Amino acid sequence: MKIAPSILSADFAALGDAIAVVEGGGADMIHVDVMDGRFVPNLTIGPCVIESIRKRTRLPLDAHLMIVEPEHYIEDFVRAGADFLTVHVEASPHLHRTLQQIREAGAKAGVALNPSTPPDAIEWVLDSLDLILVMSVNPGFGGQSFIPSSYAKVRQIRTLVGARPIEVSVDGGVNHNTASGLAKAGATALVAGSAIFGAQDPAQAVKDLRSAAQ
Ligand code: DX5
Ligand code: ZN
Repeated sequence: MKIAPSILSADFAALGDAIAVVEGGGADMIHVDVMDGRFVPNLTIGPCVIESIRKRTRLPLDAHLMIVEPEHYIEDFVRAGADFLTVHVEASPHLHRTLQQIREAGAKAGVALNPSTPPDAIEWVLDSLDLILVMSVNPGFGGQSFIPSSYAKVRQIRTLVGARPIEVSVDGGVNHNTASGLAKAGATALVAGSAIFGAQDPAQAVKDLRSAAQ
């Protein structure tokens, strides 16, 4: 199980230190939540912050783009140093083209699904995907409660993926209570914000989440 701390719940004035701490705890990837105030009712950060983070860690960076028309910003995020670009299926009308553009720009292509979006929305782009991000809360904010139907959705997506080498990641309300059910359902990566950066010891929280999933 890969653990991807979401820096949304970290101290933005000390991001480099926060990332070093979870890297020390064995994190596999850093999850960066990009919000535009249109696709989701919140604003966060853009490529310039990713560029700064890139200099502070060797871990892969997954930019979760909660923005409309993400196709206009692919080059910017890849140039800034993102390894994965994850776009929302609901935000990109020409998803197949967008995913191809991500790969052509040199990054790995991910797609995120809102809780109300059925798994078959990605059936015809599976061969263009490196990562699927199953949203287990409605995107926009950290610290929300896990939506229980997400277990069944992860199972369905697992079946859809078959033997393809695609990461099945889950984002929202992931903690020591939900981790083992998600692992059983077929998740291969867990994104966690408040459960890691809200803990007394974020490095230990990474380890605890991994053992809860095993
Ligand atoms: C929510 C973001 C998540 C968020 C998760 O829109 O996509 O990555 O940081 O936060 P927690 O783990 O606190 O639910
Ligand atoms: Zn996210």
